[in-house]
Amino acid sequence: MSKKIFFSGVQPSGKPHIGNYFGAMKQFVDLQNEYDGYAFIVDYHALHSLRNPKEMSENIKNVLLDYLAIGLDPEKVTLAKQSDVSEHTELCWIFDTVITMPFLMRAHAYKDAEAKNKEIDVGTFNYPVLMAADILLYGTDIVPVGADQKQHVEIARDIAEKFNNTYGQTFKLPEHMIMKEVAVVPGTDGRKMSKSYNNTIPLFAEYEEIKKCVMGIVTDSSEGIPKNVYAIHKLVRDEKELEKIYTEKTGKYKELKELLIEDLEKFIAPLRENRKEFAKDIPKALAILKAGGEKAKKVAEAKMEEVREKIGVNIYEK
Ligand code: TRP
Repeated sequence: MSKKIFFSGVQPSGKPHIGNYFGAMKQFVDLQNEYDGYAFIVDYHALHSLRNPKEMSENIKNVLLDYLAIGLDPEKVTLAKQSDVSEHTELCWIFDTVITMPFLMRAHAYKDAEAKNKEIDVGTFNYPVLMAADILLYGTDIVPVGADQKQHVEIARDIAEKFNNTYGQTFKLPEHMIMKEVAVVPGTDGRKMSKSYNNTIPLFAEYEEIKKCVMGIVTDSSEGIPKNVYAIHKLVRDEKELEKIYTEKTGKYKELKELLIEDLEKFIAPLRENRKEFAKDIPKALAILKAGGEKAKKVAEAKMEEVREKIGVNIYEK
């Protein structure tokens, strides 16, 4: 029996933080033994906000190292970048012709941009359609993502249904997979951890950086247990142990923070060292990415053949 398939994508848009890790990336590693996986660097998606070519190239390499460092095994998970598989953008166009503008106007990302009176580029508007193409090309069963991406996966399902209704059964309907307990990882100020709030702890932080971030965690002195410290702590240490420790050390914020620094260091150090190892041989890492793209392309090509057949453009004798 063949394994089920997961697909997920990460934009090459800068350093990951532990929120990205627990919210999405970690799941790829957890799933890799049970599923056939695809972990894509969605560079075309990033174009709507990243228009500096040098930065684009650097970021792609960085995400590749990040994926390898967290323990993704390229034998089990196909690591590839979107721009290496042109079928993604090709399918995106075909989807564009079966769905409507009002349907896409319901997407949160579009509505938010609209509410801020931003001039929205067509790529941003179309973002969920390209994402649907990413997911649907591979017969994906589940899409492990952060809670903010749930709507996009629903849009992918709707697009698959619309296509299937128009041209006959072609695409499997994917499900999103969100780890409830970590769907929203809190930042150092208690709000959702996010680059835009400047409240992150970088996933590959050096010791000093971890220290600085933890010392900056906002604590509310009206409570014995510092909520924000605890919320981050429970990501890296068993809650049963923590409850005991936090009860014993009620009110001792400094000690609790020091303990959190040590626990974060224990968790981050091996990842950080792994990443340094992979960074020593960039050509090797790039060869992994390239081979992944070639492997993915075979699957995507076969699916596109089927799509071309369904829509009636395959007219040559075989
Ligand atoms: N939109 C996702 C994000 O910003 C990235 C993404 C693109 C993605 N294509 C995908 C995620 C396909 C899962 C599946 O995080």
